[in-house]
Amino acid sequence: MTPRVRGYPPRVSRTPAYAAQLRDALTRAVRGVSERDLARATEALVSRYRSVAPATAPILASDVHVAAYAAYRMPATHAALSRVLRDLAARGLEPRSLLDLGGGTGAAAWAAAGAFDSLESVKVLDQVEAALALGRDLVREAPSEVLARATFARAVAGDWPQLEADLVTVSYVLSELEERAQETLVADAMQRGRVVVVAEPGTPDGYARVLRVRAAMIAEGWTVLGPCPHEDGCPLVGTDWCHFAARVNRSAEHRRLKGADLSYEDEKFSWVAAARPGVLETKAGQANSARILRHPLKRKGFVEFQVCRPDGTAGREVVSKKAGERYRAARDAEWGDTLP
Ligand SMILES: C[S@@+](CC[C@H](N)C(=O)[O-])C[C@H]1O[C@@H](n2cnc3c(N)ncnc32)[C@H](O)[C@@H]1O
Repeated sequence: MTPRVRGYPPRVSRTPAYAAQLRDALTRAVRGVSERDLARATEALVSRYRSVAPATAPILASDVHVAAYAAYRMPATHAALSRVLRDLAARGLEPRSLLDLGGGTGAAAWAAAGAFDSLESVKVLDQVEAALALGRDLVREAPSEVLARATFARAVAGDWPQLEADLVTVSYVLSELEERAQETLVADAMQRGRVVVVAEPGTPDGYARVLRVRAAMIAEGWTVLGPCPHEDGCPLVGTDWCHFAARVNRSAEHRRLKGADLSYEDEKFSWVAAARPGVLETKAGQANSARILRHPLKRKGFVEFQVCRPDGTAGREVVSKKAGERYRAARDAEWGDTLP
């Protein structure tokens, strides 16, 4: 990997095209499953994911549960991971290999293939064979060669094979594990990856897990790549929680399964990414600009932001029309972007 910390180069994102291809592949994959079974399994998963207790047995307990997960959750986890990985790509990260721990049906693999032109190999590990089988099925007609060649293998946390990768992802997995097992999984990811990304639901408890991961990464001397523009304590602790949103376009099945009318939903997520010492040329804090923490308020003649700053504080920033080019960039900036 030749990661560089630099600005945001203009780059045409493949993510929307990949999201559409994934939606089509999911529609095909669940076509044979009875709608009633799918709806029942979706309901069971929704209530399971609402409870924050660690799982004592695999949550994806049957083929129908796997199909329901893929149809109603995978577009959302794919959207969240795409947002995170595009952020890292824009910073110049160019991983050649991806290892996705607890990767299930392969959401992070699709997101990485959409974000990084540099990707040459993808390996997804999970404890549930049915999820891996569906993941293999989905990539069969994938839009990229690297995705079509992705391997999906069964492995249980604590007993991952000794693999290494430029990028290791742990996406929406920690909530299913006891705290000790979460720590072990993150340590395993850090042993195997040069850059590690952890994403969790954008809830206060998801954020709390992400904060613990961030602390473990900093304690090992890793460089935080995002979302934080600094490595001090999080200024939001006790008052708020750091989370972002990714827009997910819903397919007709997705809408039916969730009993929803809207053609889209916003997936809320929390995340942290860090690089092993020596991987980056520059410390993140030196190169980063403030991170936008809420939907910007676009007023006549100025844009108001809530941001997290490189000096470790959080607060309000205003970019007015007088700022010229910067103001024009500020009008386009969104929640989760860096402040222009
Ligand atoms: C909520 S799903 C997330 C799947 C995928 N990473 C995504 O973002 O869509 C959690 C995944 O973690 C896997 N998992 C949970 N505990 C595990 C363990 N002990 N060993 C291996 N995989 C595990 C589950 O089988 C499931 O596929």
